[in-house]
Amino acid sequence: MRFILHTYGCQMNVRDSEAVSALLAAAGHSPAPTEDDADLIVVNSCSVRGKAEDKALGKLGLLCAAKRYRPNLIVGLMGCMAQRLGTDIFKYVKALDFTVGTRRCGAIPRMVARVLAGETGICEISSPDEIPDAPDAHTDSGYSAFVTVLLGCNRRCAYCIVPDVRGPEYSRPGREILAEIAALARNNVREITLLGQSVMNYGRANAVWDTSDAPSAGGYTEPFARLLEAVAAIPGIIRIRFTSGHPSGVTDQLVRVAASLPQICHHLHLPVQSGSDRILRAMRRGYTRADYLDAVRRLRAAMPDFALTTDVIVGFPGETETDFEETRTLMNAADFDNSFIFKYSPRPGTPAADMENDVSDIEKMRRNQVLLEDQDLRGVAANQRLVGTLQDVLIEGPSLRNAARWCGRSPGNKIVVFNPKAGLEPGQLARIRITRAAPQTLYGEAVP
Ligand code: SAH
Ligand code: SF4
Ligand code: F3S
Repeated sequence: MRFILHTYGCQMNVRDSEAVSALLAAAGHSPAPTEDDADLIVVNSCSVRGKAEDKALGKLGLLCAAKRYRPNLIVGLMGCMAQRLGTDIFKYVKALDFTVGTRRCGAIPRMVARVLAGETGICEISSPDEIPDAPDAHTDSGYSAFVTVLLGCNRRCAYCIVPDVRGPEYSRPGREILAEIAALARNNVREITLLGQSVMNYGRANAVWDTSDAPSAGGYTEPFARLLEAVAAIPGIIRIRFTSGHPSGVTDQLVRVAASLPQICHHLHLPVQSGSDRILRAMRRGYTRADYLDAVRRLRAAMPDFALTTDVIVGFPGETETDFEETRTLMNAADFDNSFIFKYSPRPGTPAADMENDVSDIEKMRRNQVLLEDQDLRGVAANQRLVGTLQDVLIEGPSLRNAARWCGRSPGNKIVVFNPKAGLEPGQLARIRITRAAPQTLYGEAVP
């Protein structure tokens, strides 16, 4: 069969989709070039905001309607909304063939076989705390790969559905992760992004290293610092990123390992959510404005070129104009390179869903717009400051806009466009002198 996956949501879903694609290919299926050519379409869904679920539901509705004139089409659902709704999904999309929970996506090839044998309406939702049958297979996606190291989340921020749909924290054993990354490196992957909801919590909830594992060369005792060190030792891995961060994870060991290993990019996505202590407390984020800014200060003290990106929620219940202004000043103080602004969306069953959603939609939109404009100004200034600097760029290949030029990303995750040069190949690091900055792109020339 020819299959296609539609992926919504975060990088964790992207990674799960890659794994499912690889499993389907191993089961003898092949990727379809377009949706019209596909016999099997799987929607990988996100539940984090109401709109994310609406998109997946809309897509499923269209696909299931298409089954009327494409009787052989198989439609399946995976991901966070599948986990949240369980069999209730069949109330909304009756013709759905199968639905599978977040820690069971490895079951998809078997479920497809069952549908081919005549079953329909199959549901395989586990309790979200089981140890996943997480396949570590990857499809070929160039020089960068995501590797989930920490599943689930133990934090339970007041607004967030993720702990319900992804379950409690489970850290994969170090050896399993290192073997997966070594295999990726043999397949020409050069950059690894380690994934977890609070990725620096890696190894805090369950043991991940064996007594027989080699001790840390840098004397690190924290599991995440040890993991970074071990990944950096894998031949072929020239770049390491990790996401998302939480200020409590910005420990002295984390700062030391990031500053001392050349493979680690000086960039972190460190969601702040709000700059107001009152709102941070109501959100149950577990840090204050001062804690957050202190984490930023410690990172930049050790790595002056450190780039930070963030997430912010506007219109959380009870957020006043004063709270909002505190978010604006914090964002300026932290000098984010980029930020993602979200309008608060109540999620069923979360503590915040019982609070009064008292900021109007119009006001949420206004606050969203104000923060976007602030960010544009900051982003342009941040890019301007890079003109004249040297950036190590991981060459991806021809630029989308102009195939005569090449593009890649800087350690700070900015797109850099430059002229190809003899002796340089995609998958290598090129040293680029930045000559010009646009809001979303940097331009430069390769230097020897
Ligand atoms: N684990 C990450 C975030 C995962 S969810 C962390 O804690 O940093 C990604 C982002 O979606 C969050 O950072 C938050 O900004 C946003 N988000 C989560 N729940 C939301 C909700 N109910 N309404 C609006 N935005 C939300
Ligand atoms: Fe959600 Fe908070 Fe966990 Fe992030 S840390 S996934 S926002 S509960
Ligand atoms: Fe969405 Fe699930 Fe990621 S809810 S943000 S896809 S963990």
